[in-house]
Amino acid sequence: MPVISFANAKGGAGKTTAALLLATEIADRGKSVTIFDADPQKWISHWADLPGRPGNIDVVSQITPASIVEQISDATHQSDYVIVDLEGTENLVVANALSMSDLVVVPIQGSSMDARGGAKILTLIAKLEKIVKRDINHCVALTRTNAAVTTRALKAVQEFLAVKGIDVLMTPIVERAAYRDLFEFGGGLRGQNPKAVTNLDKAQDNAAMFAAEVLEKVRIEPRRRWYDVFKKAS
Ligand SMILES: Nc1ncnc2c1ncn2[C@@H]1O[C@H](COP(=O)(O)OP(=O)(O)O)[C@@H](O)[C@H]1O
Ligand SMILES: [Mg+2]
Repeated sequence: MPVISFANAKGGAGKTTAALLLATEIADRGKSVTIFDADPQKWISHWADLPGRPGNIDVVSQITPASIVEQISDATHQSDYVIVDLEGTENLVVANALSMSDLVVVPIQGSSMDARGGAKILTLIAKLEKIVKRDINHCVALTRTNAAVTTRALKAVQEFLAVKGIDVLMTPIVERAAYRDLFEFGGGLRGQNPKAVTNLDKAQDNAAMFAAEVLEKVRIEPRRRWYDVFKKAS
């Protein structure tokens, strides 16, 4: 089923965090997910070894440029969703994963360095679209935003993206301790202790809205489409 990749040529943009938030939100909805951990830091593989991993999330850690296309293709037949957490660079694994994606999410922090790393991936997507001869659906997710204020750097990034006509998700991923805690304590946001984690409810709402918006972008309704075709023909 749909393949959603997280890419930005710069490290620290929030790819891995966003990928895990989406995966755990999908799992909460009772759907199965395969996550490909193509980040050499292997944060998602470490997370998978902690307690609390939902049974409907599988993590694949062994990936090579030669195998990733087939691995992703196989996973689409086994899981409801496939999520790929990519390295903060441009290489063959990144290019192959982007080519296989139904949606590429480019996380960008409110800084010009992140925006430049994001722009590199957007340029790569444009090149790959010519090679695979189809549009590769993509959008930017603003990450680590301040819940209280919009900084000057973030405003500059928003303007830069608007000028380029790039689709930006309405829900930014806010800076929340709860998101860091997932990698420390394991499981999803629902499994965290509200007494131990500040603003857990706000983090849960933010993650749920982020996931809903991403999933809306990859919604595939073959039955309805066939129904429409049938209706038109009759
Ligand atoms: N929304 C967020 N709230 C709090 N910390 C975050 C958030 N997004 C990322 N971080 C932290 O920033 C660092 C880099 O994030 P990460 O998701 O690993 O980025 P990337 O995968 O792009 O390198 C990590 O320490 C992570 O815990
Ligand atoms: Mg990462």
